[in-house]
Amino acid sequence: MTSSVIVAAAHEFARTAAGWIADRMGAAIEARKSCAVALCGGSTPVPVLADLVGRSIRWNDVSVYFGDERAVPPDHRDSNFGMARRALLDHVPLDPARVHRMRADRDDLAAAALDYERSLPERLDILMLGLGPDGHTASLFPETPALRPGARIVLAVAAPSPPVTPQVARMTITPLVIEAARNVVVLVAGADKAGIVARVLDGPLDPFALPAQLARGDTWILDHDAARQLKGREEPQ
Ligand code: 6PG
Repeated sequence: MTSSVIVAAAHEFARTAAGWIADRMGAAIEARKSCAVALCGGSTPVPVLADLVGRSIRWNDVSVYFGDERAVPPDHRDSNFGMARRALLDHVPLDPARVHRMRADRDDLAAAALDYERSLPERLDILMLGLGPDGHTASLFPETPALRPGARIVLAVAAPSPPVTPQVARMTITPLVIEAARNVVVLVAGADKAGIVARVLDGPLDPFALPAQLARGDTWILDHDAARQLKGREEPQ
C-alpha cells in the first residue's frame, strides 16, 4: 500500500496540514451536510489546530471527536482535550454539545470506553493521527492487545511508557476506526521523528510492531526534517 506523502518546509507545516484538513471538512459538509473530525493528541497538532481557527469552516455542521486521551482531567496539562480546547475549541463557534470528549478521567475507564464507542459515528470523515517515537499512533502501542482483531472500536489501554504515571492509563480508538475513516491524515514534524517515519513508511509492513503502519496507505503530512530519511520522496512544497 502506498502513502500519499506531502512534505512541507517547517514554517509551512501547520498551514499545509490545516489547509488539507479544512479542504476535506468542506468536502464532507458539501457531500453529507455534516463533518465528523477526530483530533489527535500530543504536541504536533497544536499549530495545525491553531491555523484552523482562522479558516472559513462551517462549524455548525462539524462534530469533534478524539482519537485517544490520557486518564487525566480535562484541565490537566497532559489532557489531549485540554490541548485542543486551548488551540482550537475555545476559539471557534462550535456548539459544545458537538464536542465529544473522551472521559478517560472516569473511575471506570472500561465503561467510559464503551460509552464513547456509542458516541462515535460509523465512519469519521477526517481522522487526525500522530506518530510516536516507538511507532505508536493514537494510543495503539506496539505489540499490545488493542491491535488484535476484535469488534471493539474504543478501548481502555495502558501506555507502556515509563516512568509509570497517571498518564499510563488511556482510552484509544482501535484499528477498526482507522480502517473505516474516510480521510486519515498522519501529522509528523521534527528531526527526531525522521528515523521512525522511514521505518513506518519504507520498512517491512508489520502493524503489530509499528501500529502507525495501519495508516500507511493514507496521507502523511511531514515537515522536511521528519521526511529526511525517506527514500525517493518529492521535495518540500
Ligand atoms: C497521545 C497521542 C499520540 C501522539 C504521538 C505524537 O495522546 O500521546 O495521541 O499518539 O500523537 O505520541 O506525539 P507528539 O506530537 O507530542 O510528538
